[in-house]
Amino acid sequence: MISELEKYKTADTSKINTWFKAAPVSAFPENGGACVKYKDLQIAIFNFSRRNEWYACQNLCPHKMQMILSRGMIGSTEGEPKVACPFHKKNFSLKTGKNINGDTCDIAVYPVKVEDGHVFVGFED
Ligand code: FES
Repeated sequence: MISELEKYKTADTSKINTWFKAAPVSAFPENGGACVKYKDLQIAIFNFSRRNEWYACQNLCPHKMQMILSRGMIGSTEGEPKVACPFHKKNFSLKTGKNINGDTCDIAVYPVKVEDGHVFVGFED
């Protein structure tokens, strides 16, 4: 049987030593995102319920340095989950953080797990 961690693992967890308890699952809209703060970082967390997956990335869009990605539109390109910045529609992979348009910086992505009704984001502290 697959564990909850395995089920929701969305990025490399081998180096994670801190699982930050972000918020209850109910705080995140289906097929949408919300922003949480961890230390001095803003983290966008996405409940990609169409895919039954969770993702987390930096909230900062590197194009014009706007704290906005949690309000982006999520979708898929050739099976790759992505978020589109609402300002100028730059697309980023939610698995790797790669800028799919190839014309701006990549973003940081973080592993996510769901346990006991709460969403956790992993960090290498
Ligand atoms: S600020 Fe995000 S695409 Fe321009």
